[in-house]
Amino acid sequence: MAFRNFEKKQKPMKALKTYVETHKDRFLNELFELLKIPSVSADSTYKKEVIDTAKFVAKSLENAGCEHVELCETEGYPIVYGEKLIDPKLPTVLVYGHYDVQPADPIELWDSPPFEPIIKKTELHPEGAIFARGACDDKGQMYMHVKALEFMTSTDQLPCNVKFMIEGEEEVGSENLATFVKAHAEKLSNDVILISDTGMISKDTPSITTGLRGLSYVEVEVTGPNRDLHSGIYGGAVANPINVLSKMIASLHDENNRITIPGFYDKVEELSKEERAAMAEAPFSLENYKKALEIDAVYGENGYSTNERNSIRPTLDVNGIWGGYTGEGAKTVIASKAYAKISMRLVPHQDHHEITALFKTHFESIAPKGVRVKVTPHHGGQGYVTPIDNIGYQAASKAYFDTFGKNPIPQRGGGSIPIVALFEETLKSKTILMGFGLNSDAIHSPNEHYGVFNYLKGIETIPLFYKYFVDLKQQK
Ligand code: BES
Ligand code: MN
Ligand code: MN
Repeated sequence: MAFRNFEKKQKPMKALKTYVETHKDRFLNELFELLKIPSVSADSTYKKEVIDTAKFVAKSLENAGCEHVELCETEGYPIVYGEKLIDPKLPTVLVYGHYDVQPADPIELWDSPPFEPIIKKTELHPEGAIFARGACDDKGQMYMHVKALEFMTSTDQLPCNVKFMIEGEEEVGSENLATFVKAHAEKLSNDVILISDTGMISKDTPSITTGLRGLSYVEVEVTGPNRDLHSGIYGGAVANPINVLSKMIASLHDENNRITIPGFYDKVEELSKEERAAMAEAPFSLENYKKALEIDAVYGENGYSTNERNSIRPTLDVNGIWGGYTGEGAKTVIASKAYAKISMRLVPHQDHHEITALFKTHFESIAPKGVRVKVTPHHGGQGYVTPIDNIGYQAASKAYFDTFGKNPIPQRGGGSIPIVALFEETLKSKTILMGFGLNSDAIHSPNEHYGVFNYLKGIETIPLFYKYFVDLKQQK
């Protein structure tokens, strides 16, 4: 009890710094335990581990002071829910995150095993980074919120109500979460949604993500002859599905690297000169960008900068392509079938169902005689933008100012968290994306990592968001 009084007399910021400093080894060790469980939602061989991870998250929420913690069963993996409601008159923050991770493949490209977390120093993280699948996306970032809550409850400084909703199917499309949110809008009611599942510009240039791209994901199959053929006997005389697919894919961009699907750009919002000028002010080094990727030039839609191409512009990319013989040596063969997986990143106002339909119609229409084409849609989602003149954004901005000593830069992100658009539609509240990852953290890639600095800084910044959000809300 004496400890509590002591904490209360100090400014929250001070107590906060001390708390994080005092407990940082434990914060890291707990995250390590979470990272050791391979919660790969896409691969059913990990079913037990995914469920174990949900239980781990539930337990950690309980330990951090959450009440009514439950595993909400769905047709897929459970959603972990917990809350700490202190006063109905106070605002409510809903925290969302995901405990599932991407597959670790290709596993041979990892320098250390993906589910045996280890701290290593890197050029950008001289104080160390945690290497493990999910370290940044999203276990590490999600767990910052659990530890931030622990700080607030254990020092008696939780300034409002909080609800946690942590799902296990984000990496596979969040379909069951969508159903859950629609069915439980009342239970999930809130004043603002808080997510850490994005990135920031750099460790000394904090930024807040103000937009996410939508996604349309399709698989295509091109079928030619009814069986694989000898490429000498038949070569040159029948359509080769792989040649045809390559040609069809190549035709999806024009000489300016614009997407050729009729109607694709119809709803794309063009940003004003002023908005583009503001974007261009964010610190960015093209040289460093190229150097980090070991490329001699960037590539993309003519007339747009790199940062515009990867955030406010839509894209079409082949994510995988296969068919025919890819084994050792040479086999002379014309495959019967060729396949590709194609993603289109969309910007706000482009409807993903509509874009998928436009793609299908167009792709079928450009197939030459001699092949058949099948287009199968996978999951998709709408994009999202949030204005910066709302209390949630301002509270986040003040929080970053306190911990980084600088105002964060608003920045539209290129990735997708499809459920965010549904949150706004169903729960009628804004989402604030306080991401602490770096682009170089290699999420979804081998050697994913998350800076120890970023992890601890996140834990330190989050409680301040709560404080400022409540302050601003009460001033209104
Ligand atoms: N956390 C990412 C999204 C992200 C990362 C947004 C970095 C902005 C910056 C999320 O887990 C993710 O990977 N989303 C998928 C889409 C999902 C439907 C599989 C994506 O963006 O590819
Ligand atoms: Mn994520
Ligand atoms: Mn992800």
